[in-house]
Amino acid sequence: MAFSSQLWSLQRICLFVVVFPLVLFLAPVSADCYSSIFSFGDSLTDTGNLYFISPPQSPNCLLPPYGQTHFQHPNGRCSDGRLVLDFLSESLGLPYVKPYLAFKNGAVELGNIQQGVNFAVAGATALSRSFFEDKGFTVEVTTNFSLRVQLDWFKELLPSLCNSSSCEKVLGSSLFIVGEIGGNDYGYPLSQANEFEVPVTYIPQVISVITSAIMELIDLGAVTLIVPGILPLGCNPAYLTGFATTDEEEYDRAGCLKWLNMFHEHHNDLLQIELNQLRVLYPLTNIIYADFFNAALQIYKSPENFGFGGNALKVCCGGGGPYNYNDTAVCGNSGVIACDDPSQYVSWDGYHLTEAAYRWITKGLLDGSYTTPKFNLLCRTSETSEDFNNYAMKWQ
Ligand SMILES: *[C@@H]1O[C@H](CO)[C@@H](O)[C@H](O)[C@H]1NC(C)=O
Ligand SMILES: *[C@@H]1O[C@H](CO)[C@@H](O)[C@H](O)[C@H]1NC(C)=O
Ligand SMILES: *[C@@H]1O[C@H](CO)[C@@H](O)[C@H](O)[C@H]1NC(C)=O
Repeated sequence: MAFSSQLWSLQRICLFVVVFPLVLFLAPVSADCYSSIFSFGDSLTDTGNLYFISPPQSPNCLLPPYGQTHFQHPNGRCSDGRLVLDFLSESLGLPYVKPYLAFKNGAVELGNIQQGVNFAVAGATALSRSFFEDKGFTVEVTTNFSLRVQLDWFKELLPSLCNSSSCEKVLGSSLFIVGEIGGNDYGYPLSQANEFEVPVTYIPQVISVITSAIMELIDLGAVTLIVPGILPLGCNPAYLTGFATTDEEEYDRAGCLKWLNMFHEHHNDLLQIELNQLRVLYPLTNIIYADFFNAALQIYKSPENFGFGGNALKVCCGGGGPYNYNDTAVCGNSGVIACDDPSQYVSWDGYHLTEAAYRWITKGLLDGSYTTPKFNLLCRTSETSEDFNNYAMKWQ
């Protein structure tokens, strides 16, 4: 992994001291290592499903300069490079998770999805399309690919992945990543109604859909699940632009909109309450909450500690304005160019983060600071577990 080496190993040593007894005595029930990853969610997690949806409604993620940093070309990811899912895959020694629709459309062979399938679609919501239609919102086509639909895809694919005799083992040794999902459920209405009150009424419904999805996956055989919360979208330059106000009281010290962060934190709080109940219901599973919110918030609060200088709230690839975010000139449009060095920016396009920011968030998850319970460190690449064993020996 490419994390800054000294800091990384230093943290690993500290972590070891703190985490080792936990790992030893509260050993998760899952297998020693994950054989594959199954992921669900939206543009924070989509690794290319969007490409196979026609007509693509958010085509920008498929145009340059998307993908320029790591892949050198657009690859269906809504960022300049790798996502949290990609960094997790790397650190677990697994290949990048293939988009389900690539397989369904014959672009990827069955042999290439045994180590993971990604059902996330950029723009997807937790709630179904009809929910938004009934509420009278203009619906994007990507609401066709709600969590329910993604789950149905998974069930459709299951017979290709395992048999009645092998499914328990295959799914039990897999890592399920359910989310982030929900940001768009609030985002579409927020961008239309410009009102806080509307989405707040249905947060419990969004949470309930996520909870049901988790229960369904567990009933199918999932044992280890990572469930990310929503990012602090009050720090999101697109929202900062759309909800800009001259009332300084509305902003926190990082320059983020307090009410928007509180709103999304409320979702995360309710989600965690539900996860606690699921842990009681399913004591043999390992349900890990991934605190995207605080893992990102630490960056907005002290950007200079993460190498982001003064660019925490400015968009790298944008069309002008105080946050360099412009609704009518967005990244991917002709004439909109990316900043020289995306690694110095948190926001890539106003909605999505840069690879550099996703890398820091992943680091926060892997070192245990932003996962509850802590992520199983023994399930890392062989290189890492070797290091881990070395530290273990020194410790003894
Ligand atoms: C999305 O759903 C609507 C309503 O069911 C349907 O008319 C439309 O064809 C769907 N679009 C895609 C791309 O699936
Ligand atoms: C299912 O079982 C059959 C025969 O028992 C075997 O040939 C096939 O490869 C299995 N498929 C999967 C996906 O494990
Ligand atoms: C936003 O983009 C439009 C269209 O390119 C342009 O006319 C306008 O001046 C831009 N606004 C800002 C604040 O840069």
